[in-house]
Amino acid sequence: MEIEDVEIENQKEFMKKVSKKTNNKKYFILTMGCQLNENDSEKLSGMLEKMGYSETKDVRQANLAILNTCCVRENAEERLFGKVGELKVLKEKNDLIIAIGGCMMQEKHIQEKLKKSYPYVDIIFGTHTLHKFPEDLCRVLETREKIKDVIDINGTVYENIPIKRSNKISGSVTIMYGCNNFCTYCIVPYVRGRERSRKPKDIIKECEDLAKQGYKEIVLLGQNVNSYLKSEMEEIKQGKRIDENGDYSQIDSFAKLLKAINMIDGIERIRFISPHPKDFTDDVIEAISSCEKVCKFIHLPLQSGSTRMLKIMNRKYTKEQYLDLVDKIRNKIPSVKFSTDIIVGFAEESEEDFKETLDVVQKVGFEQVYMFIYSRRVGTPGDKMKNQVPDDVKHERFDRLKELVENKIADSNKEYIGTIQKVLVEGISKNNESMLTGRTDSNKVVVFDADKSLINSVIDLKIVEDHMWYFKGERIN
Ligand code: 5AD
Ligand code: SF4
Repeated sequence: MEIEDVEIENQKEFMKKVSKKTNNKKYFILTMGCQLNENDSEKLSGMLEKMGYSETKDVRQANLAILNTCCVRENAEERLFGKVGELKVLKEKNDLIIAIGGCMMQEKHIQEKLKKSYPYVDIIFGTHTLHKFPEDLCRVLETREKIKDVIDINGTVYENIPIKRSNKISGSVTIMYGCNNFCTYCIVPYVRGRERSRKPKDIIKECEDLAKQGYKEIVLLGQNVNSYLKSEMEEIKQGKRIDENGDYSQIDSFAKLLKAINMIDGIERIRFISPHPKDFTDDVIEAISSCEKVCKFIHLPLQSGSTRMLKIMNRKYTKEQYLDLVDKIRNKIPSVKFSTDIIVGFAEESEEDFKETLDVVQKVGFEQVYMFIYSRRVGTPGDKMKNQVPDDVKHERFDRLKELVENKIADSNKEYIGTIQKVLVEGISKNNESMLTGRTDSNKVVVFDADKSLINSVIDLKIVEDHMWYFKGERIN
């Protein structure tokens, strides 16, 4: 047994101990940030349900409240401290246990602020100690002491943590943790540690289990999915790691992982977020092209269209290389569609640089653009750069980008009208209970009238109306 497995067995003992103390107890969990954090929360929920807790969406009913934090952008901080303040009243009334975890807890200045201004918080845990939540909770229940369980390491991969999934149609599978890229605006490498990949066999098993449970879609998650196993293969090459059990003999790259998951019966769709343009090798393009279950829809973060800015951002590609990559993928996979992330107003960004970004948006024609106003993050090189862009300029650029993006989306939406799209039916529409909702391969929402029995199946729909952020579809058989 490996040391990580021993640790998880140890945590199972704590789970048993806590379950003896819990009687009808309820937990509330609030997740901020990205899908990786959502997946972490699913693991927290899984552990808690094993400990006899059940979930409540109403924090006033809860015995335990967990806030799973994000620190990629600033507004999350204000939101967190507001929430912690609100919880104080409930703590006094209901003896609520308050636990705060996730990325923000890896930041020293946040830990200090919590200690000083919010001393009533019971558990502070970081990104590397999530698996130890049963032990931390057990200690609080037994001793009522305040616990800070945050470690600053490069990270370890733990398997077999119980999981309770929040989505019954699409299953998220984290394939790698951490990031090695150190883009100069980004806090992630400091709070999530270095890249480390899960073993192929563990990922395949998780995907097979999802298929057995009836899941049709798998979303592979990681900060930089196309460098899956890169660090491990490098270590093997240098003799720093020995592949004793042949774990990497069949699958040693992201492309091969896609191919292996494509073979799993029952799974109909495979998505992945996010790849890095610099690691988008030909074998990955070939795998997307040849695997019928892999969506021909690629989220390809651009961040900026200016080569000068990309250098300042440490992105390791130029505007031309990005556009060439898009062209190359389009040549191999003619039906492919793209979405992207863009930051406006990063330090040093001039009007000319910004126009380069608009130019790339104009040229590529993304299906969706996630736009972010640059937010200075303590500890990153970007925060120390001299020429910060004034707030009003950032907002003005953001609005111009938004206008272009919306015009481009309106154009590309027109092309859908009258086409037949494969749609994975996700459930009843939130805005109209007599309708169902689903998504196309290119992640567009389609609302349509059909029988509920179709939920969790892939059907053909004709796109008949364009409502900008969703389409109306009709059954064709
Ligand atoms: N400010 C604004 N946006 C950021 N992102 C990452 N760091 C920052 C920051 N400091 C954006 C990037 C990334 C997405 C997940 O968040 O576009 O791709
Ligand atoms: Fe942040 Fe860049 Fe890593 Fe993405 S690739 S997590 S933007 S450092």
